[in-house]
Amino acid sequence: MSKILVNIAWPYANGPIHLGHVAGSLLPPDIFARYNSLLGNEVWVVGGSDQHGTPITVTAEKEGVTPEEVADRYHEINKKAIEGLGIRYTLYGKTHSPVHIEVTQWLFRTLLDNGYIYTRDEDEYYCPKCGKFLPDRYVEGQCPVCGAEDVRSDQCDSCGSTFEPGDIINPHCTRCGTAPVVKASKQYFLKLSAFEEPLLKYLEDKTYWRPNVRAYTQNFLKGGLKDRAITRDMQWGVEIPVEGEEWKKKVIYVWFDAVIGYLSMTVQHAREIGKPDYWKTFWENPDCKHYYFIGKDNIPFHSIIWPAMLMGAKQGFNLPYDIPANEYLMFNGGKLSKSRKGTGTDAESQIPRDMKSVLEKFDPEEIRYYLSSIMPDTHDADFSWDELESKVNSELVAALGNYYHRTLSFTYKNFGSVPENVEPDAKVTEEIGKAFDEYSACLARCDFKKGLQAVMALAHFGNEYFNSRTPWKLVKEDRAECGRALYDSLRIVKALAVMAWPYLPRSSEKIWGYLGLPGTVEDAGYAAVLSPLPSGTALKEPVPVYGKIDLKVLFPEIFKQPEAETEHHAKEKKEKQGAAAPAQPFDAFRRLDLRVGKVLTVEDHPNADKLYKLTVDLGEGTPRTICAGLKAYYTKEQMLGRKAIVVSNLAPRPLRGIESCGMILAADDEDLGGKAVLLLRPSDPDIPVGTRFDCGLSGMTSDTIDYKKHFSAVTMKVSRAENGVFLAGNLPISLPAGAPARVAAVIDGGKAVPLGDGKGCVATVDSEIMDGAGVR
Ligand code: MF3
Ligand code: ZN
Repeated sequence: MSKILVNIAWPYANGPIHLGHVAGSLLPPDIFARYNSLLGNEVWVVGGSDQHGTPITVTAEKEGVTPEEVADRYHEINKKAIEGLGIRYTLYGKTHSPVHIEVTQWLFRTLLDNGYIYTRDEDEYYCPKCGKFLPDRYVEGQCPVCGAEDVRSDQCDSCGSTFEPGDIINPHCTRCGTAPVVKASKQYFLKLSAFEEPLLKYLEDKTYWRPNVRAYTQNFLKGGLKDRAITRDMQWGVEIPVEGEEWKKKVIYVWFDAVIGYLSMTVQHAREIGKPDYWKTFWENPDCKHYYFIGKDNIPFHSIIWPAMLMGAKQGFNLPYDIPANEYLMFNGGKLSKSRKGTGTDAESQIPRDMKSVLEKFDPEEIRYYLSSIMPDTHDADFSWDELESKVNSELVAALGNYYHRTLSFTYKNFGSVPENVEPDAKVTEEIGKAFDEYSACLARCDFKKGLQAVMALAHFGNEYFNSRTPWKLVKEDRAECGRALYDSLRIVKALAVMAWPYLPRSSEKIWGYLGLPGTVEDAGYAAVLSPLPSGTALKEPVPVYGKIDLKVLFPEIFKQPEAETEHHAKEKKEKQGAAAPAQPFDAFRRLDLRVGKVLTVEDHPNADKLYKLTVDLGEGTPRTICAGLKAYYTKEQMLGRKAIVVSNLAPRPLRGIESCGMILAADDEDLGGKAVLLLRPSDPDIPVGTRFDCGLSGMTSDTIDYKKHFSAVTMKVSRAENGVFLAGNLPISLPAGAPARVAAVIDGGKAVPLGDGKGCVATVDSEIMDGAGVR
């Protein structure tokens, strides 16, 4: 077992994190940390909110609140979003916190004592109109290296160059636009120049670094290292731990304190777990490898300045082992983070990209899958919502999810437990082994995109294998052989769940549970990729772990058809098109007139063995005659007096000589391989007959409908639900308080509403049925 320290770049707490942060620096370390955990390594993951510096004060001034309020507000928002994504930190802290301030001041003093920090006057931007020094973001201008406009005075986001006052072209004060003057101010400096030699030496064996990170660092060193100011004329930040009035007007520079956060968080966590010195086992043990996951604009701070600070501390602290910096996630050709609402006028750029909004619409596993598949590791990647939709639907759902579900549900239905392990298919063992080797090599070198491809290749193999073994035929012809085919198919399921876990932890754990395996994927580790399955273990009834997504359903307000310019035009257009309004979710359902009915009489149908002839009260005065094929499932006694849900506006049709005026809804899991046929019943036994089950939707109609054309166009299913998720299809659903375990829901695109009166009464069934049973 080795020790690993995973360090994650600290997002500024001046706004919500967005998809660019996740793909660039938050998701890769989570995958890497989980990979190490499955290897059995001891991993600590540290980072948090970067709360100091001008990014925060600029936002606070704009909003007219204190910097601390901004910093704490976004800390909470971002921490939640990160947790929502399943990204796990050992400690997600913040820089405006006691331990961080303590460690920062300690390192400052240590470097001062060691002679690596000194004071001198520095030329600084000063706005004559505002009467203030203008640190960092308070001045913008043109980048002298790449020519980008409106870059900050300390750093260019486009090319990653870092600046000293006086470097940028055409500077102006961001408060008032005035061209600043340059004025001297006394600051503390870090003696970077003293570290040129040691840094060159440090870089020598870093041949395994990503080429861009290594090249960038070498170029930075080649130019010669200049000492850098590490204090600023402002009030928000870590206080300078030195006596004297003049220092009370200044604070430590945000970048100097932020990188120390990696160290301070390990100190804080060690104290929190009651082993105050345990952090040293990560920092003073040369066998503990330190990884830093950052965006490319942070490279010099992590490959030059932070190593220099660590060297200067002379404590024998570990230097970064690897810095797998990512490139940018691009959207419509621009850096994704640049604007929240996008640049174009197309619908795609209207979709919000901050993580809170994203998580309201998408399952985190969908986001993790798509971002992993396009990860900007060696070059910029193009993000597109369209591609997200198509990759989720055609890869995650159709390849991986489909393989999981067909194998698990078929085995569950026909065997109920893990079939006998007679002689595992050597071909399957070989394919799993091959995929795992490739995958392991990729993850070890932080090539997460390729690692995911290895997982998906195994899923494709699984689907082909299942097809080639034709278990649906074997089950009728040769049950033992069928068991063997399924045993091997289940081995692939298990290997996939373990290998996918770093990317898709929640669904992998669910699959682990359906396999009936004890504990968690994380407990089992990579040993479980090729281990045998315990034959005879009872399987759990599986539910598909991924569902298809449809942007038009998720964002109807964005993808609505463009409105015609004038009412007149609209009317004309409507007439021409035959009044085709854009489809809305649940439109098909709005045509159904579903009513609560009560069975008054039950007779055998004179001409059909399977049918009852019923009279049913729908609260219309005269009861209706309805013929129903329920004799095989319900006795007359069970039918009599029963409340049911009736489709009341079907065109009447003769059934073996008797006109049937309606249809009673029942759920049936035959398509899933089950045998249950269960009548739907309102959850509230006292609900009056005639109550309409309109799900609380507006725009319901009652015109006579055709079974094939209209009723068949509506999808209704019965399933269990958990924590607001309808398990059949993994769809968000909001159920009334005290709803029964199984409910019927109307499903359209990516949406599900409970079938009911919209006021708390829902349709349910009396006993168990497979999740996803259809209603007809
Ligand atoms: N807040 C910085 C950014 O978003 C990153 C800081 S990484 C740290 O660019 F380690 F230095 F905190
Ligand atoms: Zn000004």
